[in-house]
Amino acid sequence: MTQDPHLRRISADEIDTASVDAALGTTRAVRRRLDLARPVDLQIIHDCIDVAEQAPTGGNQGSRRWLVVRDPALKDRLAELYLATAGNWMIEHRDRLAGTGHPNEAVMASAAHLAEHLAQVPVLVIPTIIGRHDGSGRPGLFDSVLQAAWSFCVALRARGLGTTWTTAILGAEDEMAELLGVPGGITQVALLPVAWTLGTEFGPAPRYPAREITWHDRWGCTWERGPSDPPTLADGPGMTVEADVKASVQRVWGLVTDIDLPARFSTEFLGATWTGGATGPAPGATFEGRNRHAAIGEWSVPCFVDVCEPERAFGWCTSNPDNPGARWRFELEPIAGSVRLRFRLLLGPGPSGISGAIEAMPDKEPRILARRVAEHRANMQAVLDGIKALAEA
Ligand SMILES: Cc1cc2nc3c(=O)[nH]c(=O)nc-3n(C[C@H](O)[C@H](O)[C@H](O)COP(=O)(O)O)c2cc1C
Repeated sequence: MTQDPHLRRISADEIDTASVDAALGTTRAVRRRLDLARPVDLQIIHDCIDVAEQAPTGGNQGSRRWLVVRDPALKDRLAELYLATAGNWMIEHRDRLAGTGHPNEAVMASAAHLAEHLAQVPVLVIPTIIGRHDGSGRPGLFDSVLQAAWSFCVALRARGLGTTWTTAILGAEDEMAELLGVPGGITQVALLPVAWTLGTEFGPAPRYPAREITWHDRWGCTWERGPSDPPTLADGPGMTVEADVKASVQRVWGLVTDIDLPARFSTEFLGATWTGGATGPAPGATFEGRNRHAAIGEWSVPCFVDVCEPERAFGWCTSNPDNPGARWRFELEPIAGSVRLRFRLLLGPGPSGISGAIEAMPDKEPRILARRVAEHRANMQAVLDGIKALAEA
């Protein structure tokens, strides 16, 4: 194996972090903005593959093979297979969703557009790897090719080209293999339609912030800041539990906004009653929650609804809306056939049930926090499981 001359040894100081982050952060699924009329020079594809080949590979084996399809007759046939496996469904789905404002309307319009124009995309690239994913844990299989294929997509983006990661056609992997002469024992992992982009500006997509989906040391444990060493309540310890609930979003929304319901599942929460004239979930509505804990006794706490987006998010803060003791959130995300339900707790910044213990034993603050979060976790999981069971019943 020889080294591509344009890749050389360089120091981290020479890497422009902003450019790297910008390319990684804006490599989007490009479909409607693929320039179908502008030819793509093969050299640029090879340059991007050279970059992509620097991705790690199990056992340091060079087992990736890249199939670049430009022959119009072959592209026609691949486009037919794409339509048959998923494209026709995408087109029907687009037509059904058109004008409905459904969250998938735009992506389906884009997916259908690609399905209708795949044959006209200048280059179709199929990253493959020698071997079959047989679960043996041997290096050089599926898990050694995806990272390189994605590097290829980012390298294209940095040069003004675009693509979309597509896998729908892999349902016809055997037909593709026959068409393109791929021998047995090779795994195809994607089909990347490559073209220059119409305009080169792309933005980041909405994604969860790292602080909300990164767990620290134990599953579900979050920090809003820092954490400092040793951690404190001011660092915003939190807990997230989540489950995929096979029920309608309306059904799940009805359950999470029933403020009394968690009392059926939690060992600490005894119940809640709307206050101040409120009768149901609305921004600014208030309720009183009642709790019991072996070390703290029984207490009640005023709660203020500070998040209320029907069928998306419902949350409240405790004690003082300007300096809450805790913030609780239910978040609903529709995913294929079900609702992903997230139940989140953020402790602090204001005083709450544990503040007394922390004041009495400041040197034990990290332990007090860890224990309290673990207690909450058990109850939150029980509430989540309870809601899931009711919703799916
Ligand atoms: C595993 C996987 C398979 C995908 N398969 C297809 C596909 O077959 N057809 C397609 O048009 N898009 C496909 N996509 C692209 C997603 O639909 C795309 O990520 C989504 O539209 C969001 O766009 P964004 O990544 O630019 O935010 C796939 C993405 C992934 C990660």
